[in-house]
Amino acid sequence: MNLMNSKIEGILLLILTIFLPNFAQAFPPRRVKFAGCFDNVARPVAVFMSCANKRGDCEVRKDSVHTLRAFFRPKHNATAVESFAAWNSWLQVPLPNQDHDACKYLYQCPLVENRLNSFTYKLKVEAFWPADTYPVIWTLTDAESEEEVLCFRFRIVIN
Ligand SMILES: *[C@@H]1O[C@H](CO)[C@@H](O)[C@H](O)[C@H]1NC(C)=O
Repeated sequence: MNLMNSKIEGILLLILTIFLPNFAQAFPPRRVKFAGCFDNVARPVAVFMSCANKRGDCEVRKDSVHTLRAFFRPKHNATAVESFAAWNSWLQVPLPNQDHDACKYLYQCPLVENRLNSFTYKLKVEAFWPADTYPVIWTLTDAESEEEVLCFRFRIVIN
């Protein structure tokens, strides 16, 4: 894909992100940088998040809700999907109070191979989380085969 196409695709996905339901409006959504995890696991086409800042690592505010939306094309069909998010330090610490039932947050569940889908999650940043930069790893897993269907890493800054 050349640069021009990926730019147009990014703009189309941003428009979709604004019009699909469930995006918190306190902070406007913007594209955030992410990395994939493993070569054989799908990575998002784009990731959007409602951040308190306009560029760089996404800043989030304590005691507020930030919406994350990842667009992706699943590599296989899957009927039950589990979500798991963790602080990705030397040991993965699960994010507190997360809901693992990914189907609640997918635009379309079951997953259909190659069809554009999105995963939208409202992340509550608790007042007691210490201010710092956190690397996050987010994984969706096929609950039957236990194969990972989506994985990405990004950073958030709590201040
Ligand atoms: C995946 O699901 C779609 C829609 O239900 C179906 O048409 C397709 O045959 C399935 N693919 C596989 C490999 O099972």
